[in-house]
Amino acid sequence: MAEQARLCVVGGGRMGHALVGGLLRSGWIGASEITIAEKHPERRKELEQNFPSVGITGEVVPAVSAVLAVKPADATAAAAAIKEAGIGRLISIVAGVRIAELEAVLGEGVAVLRAMPNMPAVVGAAASALAGGRSAGEEDFAWAEAVLSSFGVVARVPEDLLDAVTGLSGSGPAYVFVLAEAMVEGAVAQGLDREVARLLANQTLLGAARLLTELGEPAEDLRAAVTSPGGTTAAGIRALERNGFRSAVIEAVCAAAERARELGARSS
Ligand SMILES: NC(=O)c1ccc[n+]([C@@H]2O[C@H](COP(=O)([O-])OP(=O)(O)OC[C@H]3O[C@@H](n4cnc5c(N)ncnc54)[C@H](OP(=O)(O)O)[C@@H]3O)[C@@H](O)[C@H]2O)c1
Repeated sequence: MAEQARLCVVGGGRMGHALVGGLLRSGWIGASEITIAEKHPERRKELEQNFPSVGITGEVVPAVSAVLAVKPADATAAAAAIKEAGIGRLISIVAGVRIAELEAVLGEGVAVLRAMPNMPAVVGAAASALAGGRSAGEEDFAWAEAVLSSFGVVARVPEDLLDAVTGLSGSGPAYVFVLAEAMVEGAVAQGLDREVARLLANQTLLGAARLLTELGEPAEDLRAAVTSPGGTTAAGIRALERNGFRSAVIEAVCAAAERARELGARSS
């Protein structure tokens, strides 16, 4: 009998691909210990080229653990295939599908964890939140954290707060893209070439994000440090406040969380 895979990644789309890339880079697991189950034949060919030593199949295979990374509409059928394969532990990254729905398909004794990663997973900079189901113990959480941390940072939250996480880090990259676009428009209005404006705006966002994560100081302290009395930044921040920037961002996080709640309620 062929050796059982250590991990079966079900769904080799954008997120499944990012996860396997991260796991291989981290060295936490060897390529021969992973199988990707991907039902789309064209996609399988691409995966074979990108991950030559990883097993690529059209069906879920028996494995110790699995990651469910299919679209929400395919989640129940894929969970049934995971049960059929006798897999005992699962992280689902499927948006909006509750742990109880997966537990109902998988039955007693299968440890189910649910994570909400975000799009920067594709460059190894995901922000993921993790919640556990009724059979998930400390060892299962530690395993899930090891898997998810291969492509970014992980925080534990109760499942009910995953909608809030969607409003913050799930949708958050798009808020930053809007900010980047607007900064470029402002610079173009001031006479800068668009390409130069893009280069400087993108690096400004990256530099600010690195200061936030690497210095570990709160955002308000960093902002105060670059805002001298009566200076240029103070004038810029006053314009942001006058135009409701801070409350627009607060409302954006709340509106996206509320929408995640609505979509979750509709699908359950
Ligand atoms: N992209 C993000 O930023 C992000 C962030 C957080 C969470 N998520 C969640 O992550 C999940 C995956 O997202 P994605 O962008 O990677 O989606 P995707 O590109 O559509 O990838 C899913 C892949 O799984 C395949 N598949 C479906 N059912 C299968 C089965 N039973 N067995 C094997 N393969 C199967 C699909 O094939 P077909 O196309 O042929 O059906 C598709 O190629 C989604 O549920 C999404 O909500 C994504």
